[in-house]
Amino acid sequence: MARILILYYSTWGHIESMAYAAADGVREAGAEAFVKRVPETIPGEVLAHIRAKIDQGAPIADPNELADYDGLLIGTPTRYGNMAGQMRTFLDQTGKLWVSNALVGKPAGVFTCTGTQHGGQETTLISTIVNLMHFGMVVVGLPYSASQQTVMDKITGGSPYGATTIAGGDGSRQPIPEELDMARFQGRHLAEIAKKLKD
Ligand SMILES: Cc1cc2nc3c(=O)[nH]c(=O)nc-3n(C[C@H](O)[C@H](O)[C@H](O)COP(=O)(O)O)c2cc1C
Repeated sequence: MARILILYYSTWGHIESMAYAAADGVREAGAEAFVKRVPETIPGEVLAHIRAKIDQGAPIADPNELADYDGLLIGTPTRYGNMAGQMRTFLDQTGKLWVSNALVGKPAGVFTCTGTQHGGQETTLISTIVNLMHFGMVVVGLPYSASQQTVMDKITGGSPYGATTIAGGDGSRQPIPEELDMARFQGRHLAEIAKKLKD
């Protein structure tokens, strides 16, 4: 059975919700889903001050374990149009995997969340994809067959580069069903490709 790691960072829980939706999609494809987080780097008193969601049940991943999976889906919120520093710090500890070609040929994708509609979803996805390409991974986006991304009658995330959601300036907006569907789609799509590449 193909093993897919959904590796995420989330301060307030939006990406956490998307991660579990993606895991559902992985399972729909008949693969095994593992949801893990990267370590927090913000001090506890700051997390309390910004009312971060600290009750996140996913275990913490170790950088070296990325090689143990048949596919990787990274979830990271936008920070100034890029991945969150917590994810960057984690990925910067994967040099051993890079130098040994441990991830070459495995499928991988990215999903994200921004505060505002045009706050950098695509730059975050594409700049994170650059990292995946340095690993030699096969990039899996969100095809337009995930038709939720063409919705025009309401504010909706989604892009061909990966599933997205929008938190709102104050973080009060939660992922809507269409956005969770897209995360699920991306998880299923990635797992289906991982299964084919594994055969
Ligand atoms: C330091 C910092 C930088 C941010 N930069 C952006 C940004 O460039 N564009 C944007 O739309 N939102 C930005 N945001 C908002 C976050 O992307 C948003 O709160 C996050 O996606 C919520 O996801 P989470 O609940 O999973 O952490 C920023 C938030 C912080 C704390």
